[in-house]
Amino acid sequence: MASVGVAATLAEPQRAAPVRAVGAARRLAAARPPAASRLDGVEMAPPDPILGVSEAFKRDTSADKLNLGVGAYRTEELQPYVLKVVRKAEERMLAANENKEYLPIEGLASFRKATVELLLGADSPTIKEGRVACLQSLSGTGSLRIGAAFIAKFMPGAVAFISRPTWGNHKNIFADTGVEWREYSYFDPETIGLDFEGMIADLEAAPEGSVVVLHGCAHNPTGVDPTKEQWAKIADVIIAKNLVPFFDVAYQGFATGSLEEDAFAPRYFAERSIEFAVAQSYSKNLGLYAERVGAISWVLNDAGAADRVLSQMKRIARAVYSNPPVHGARIVSEVVGNEEMFEEWKGEMDMMAGRIKAVRQELYDALVKLEPNKDWSFVTKQIGMFSFTGMSPAQCDNMTNKHHIYMTRDGRLSLAGLSSSKCQYLAEAMIDSIDNH
Ligand SMILES: Cc1ncc(COP(=O)(O)O)c(C=O)c1O
Repeated sequence: MASVGVAATLAEPQRAAPVRAVGAARRLAAARPPAASRLDGVEMAPPDPILGVSEAFKRDTSADKLNLGVGAYRTEELQPYVLKVVRKAEERMLAANENKEYLPIEGLASFRKATVELLLGADSPTIKEGRVACLQSLSGTGSLRIGAAFIAKFMPGAVAFISRPTWGNHKNIFADTGVEWREYSYFDPETIGLDFEGMIADLEAAPEGSVVVLHGCAHNPTGVDPTKEQWAKIADVIIAKNLVPFFDVAYQGFATGSLEEDAFAPRYFAERSIEFAVAQSYSKNLGLYAERVGAISWVLNDAGAADRVLSQMKRIARAVYSNPPVHGARIVSEVVGNEEMFEEWKGEMDMMAGRIKAVRQELYDALVKLEPNKDWSFVTKQIGMFSFTGMSPAQCDNMTNKHHIYMTRDGRLSLAGLSSSKCQYLAEAMIDSIDNH
């Protein structure tokens, strides 16, 4: 009996407490408007200039709508494309029934080997001598981010010089990691070509030890790359001014259609013993956009330094996402690391790059036919996925608001999202926007 009594007295206040708590919570709720939050002061972030375009495109109900905003390859039917060689690799992976254990922080060994060989060539002395510190990371963006964080930590005070214009996310990435960025001249709107003198002058004026972000090939957004002779001059200035190149290689295979040719600049820099960082992405050339596969490497002149640098990049990655994802890395090592699959991939790269070249020509022909007195040669002179039209933000707005053609407001059109059947429509919209706005 006694024990029941104790239990009853103990139980009493325990039952009463929730009743009081509910009452207090009700009084509090009544005193505050229901939507109130401690984070009410957080302002809405502006939409991303590139990804926001796709969101607006999805909301548009017009049958004419065309998404030329994001640099993603589409078929002639304007559908997303999964490479056949990727599907084949996935079938092999399924058959191999591999586990889903964590990868090491530095990533899948066969992926890292294939990735540095794709960049520098399988017989590269730099690789053979163990002078490449390669960390598998989250596609191009994550790789750039780890590279920028490494610069912030180990090269304090170094300024990152980025091209004017450049891919919109470069500024975000360096700013977010606390690395000051400035611009160097790159594009000449008069010639719609490279402002080579301006570029060289700006690099010569950069403080010693600055980082220079260089698009390895198929410059985004301009589609204008330096020639081999110009790369040689750029390398001269980099050596003379003790600058640190940071290549962004997001389009290997899309500039010339050849994976080897498109790696010219980093291979040439390595031959001249220029130390550099490089971020690689398989989003575009293997169509692995959502798999987030890429790598950040430092190509150095000393194997010991490469080991130490890798250890520090691992430390940075550990605190950000720990281990990289395995699925895309396995696809890459199946495709890039296997001779037969590699040949198949080259064929599909050729097909994708060829389709973009074909619509470039068709767009040019349609523009010339509609307005023969204007110089439209920039359309076919530029390379890669994009056409940088020189259209003003008002002209771009007209393209979207009147013609339902979605593009970034810097005047960039992604030709990877254009089909032959839409070239005439696009040309008419461009001429209307350029002539009337
Ligand atoms: C110049 C450049 N660098 C890097 C990237 C990174 O893309 P991802 O993070 O999808 O690999 C892009 C994508 O558009 C790009 O254009």
